[in-house]
Amino acid sequence: MPDQPRHPDPLPPLQHTGHPGELVGVGEDVWMDVIHKMDEVYSDLLQYEVALEEKNAKLEESQQFILSVLTSISDILVVCDRHGAIEEVNRSLEDFTGRDLDSLRGTSVFELLADDQARAQLRHLFSLFGDQALHDCELPLRARDGSAVPVSLNCTPRFNAVGKAMGMVVTGRPVGELKRAYQALRQAHEDLKRTQQQLLHSEKMASLGRLVAGVAHELNNPISFILGNVHALKRYAGRLESYLGAIHGGDSAEHLAQLRTRLRIDRLLGDLPALIDGTIEGAERTRDIVDGLKRFSAIDREVNEAFDLAEVIERAVSWVRRGARDSFHVRFSMPRKIPMTGSAGQMQQVMMNLVQNAWDATAEQPEQWLDILAEVEAGTDTGGARVRVSFHDNGPGIAAQHLPQVFDPFFSTKQVGKGTGLGLSISYGIIERHGGRISAANHPAGGAIFTVELPLAGVGA
Ligand SMILES: Nc1ncnc2c1ncn2[C@@H]1O[C@H](COP(=O)(O)OP(=O)(O)OP(=O)(O)O)[C@@H](O)[C@H]1O
Ligand SMILES: [Mg+2]
Repeated sequence: MPDQPRHPDPLPPLQHTGHPGELVGVGEDVWMDVIHKMDEVYSDLLQYEVALEEKNAKLEESQQFILSVLTSISDILVVCDRHGAIEEVNRSLEDFTGRDLDSLRGTSVFELLADDQARAQLRHLFSLFGDQALHDCELPLRARDGSAVPVSLNCTPRFNAVGKAMGMVVTGRPVGELKRAYQALRQAHEDLKRTQQQLLHSEKMASLGRLVAGVAHELNNPISFILGNVHALKRYAGRLESYLGAIHGGDSAEHLAQLRTRLRIDRLLGDLPALIDGTIEGAERTRDIVDGLKRFSAIDREVNEAFDLAEVIERAVSWVRRGARDSFHVRFSMPRKIPMTGSAGQMQQVMMNLVQNAWDATAEQPEQWLDILAEVEAGTDTGGARVRVSFHDNGPGIAAQHLPQVFDPFFSTKQVGKGTGLGLSISYGIIERHGGRISAANHPAGGAIFTVELPLAGVGA
């Protein structure tokens, strides 16, 4: 066979020689070559098709995913090109505007706004922040019922693969919804505050009730014996009046003597001092209770003076000891000066009550001891310097069941007439107002120990 130039394209026309299986001008090897090539192309085509179908399926899948996400977003969403022409919107925007994507696509994003002023404003913002994100910009959009609804918009520029700005993605939420959510939150907060105030109020009423009941109980006793005494005195006064009338009327000595016996004048005179003393005592006790109440209610009096707590403690001890027996020993261990600010008078009241309580508690002991120990603690990062003063006596201590009650108003284990039970509750309030704490406990070595902790003044933290 002569050499043929091998043109791949176009192939020479095929002619039949008349013999079956033989074509004129084409050798068998060329023919085989062509068939082979066709096979290759065909198999490539098949592969391309498979790959294409796979890619198509993936594309559809991701498109479906994006669509489902867009549909589920409750915020409105608009994608537009660089000129503001709408390319895509989500279901929320369709619902909001009452228009579907087909009718919105290609129209201007600015047309979604409710009025010209808002349109101009958004254009201006886009021109200013064309390549930056814009957050929480409140503008009115035209809703499906034609009303202008303020919407809080977030606009983010969209870039292509090489970083070129392609347009904007605008998302937004009607401000009404935000406001409603905010209002619901505020309402819940208000309700909570009201409930808390009610609770506080009922707590206050309960403690006021306890206080009133305590006062009534405390006052009942002295008032009833004052009343009893005064009635007796009134009767005595009547008898004395009759007797004196007889004396001044010049009755005979014999008659006067009879009258004296009948009216039991001598017994009456013997009773008088006790009746008067009892009345005075009852009146004094009432005055003490009222005084205590006055101290108790004077909680808002603001005094802010510099004073020395060491001096206050020493004075309190000497005042209490004036009335105490010699067997009452007080041992001090404290710095020479303890500078503080607040009310020296109120602090003295606290210290006197603590010392007086210790003296009362140790009354049965052959030797009465009170140890007063004051230690200064340097300030830390979280707080300034403080002083801790403890009062430890050698009395019987506080019964376990009484420990939680000792700071309650009117709690007292003392005999009627010896204590109002207001001392520690008043002290508690005073110490608190001075930024401190007071606590009661039983000392492991016996006796009660009261500890007062207070902030110091003029000592660096
Ligand atoms: N050092 C102490 N040892 C044992 N018990 C104490 C001591 N200090 C206080 N208490 C108990 O705490 C109670 C309440 O004390 P508080 O000072 O409040 O009132 P009071 O001393 O009874 O009366 P007031 O102080 O009004 O004269 C006392 O009655 C007592 O039972
Ligand atoms: Mg007391």
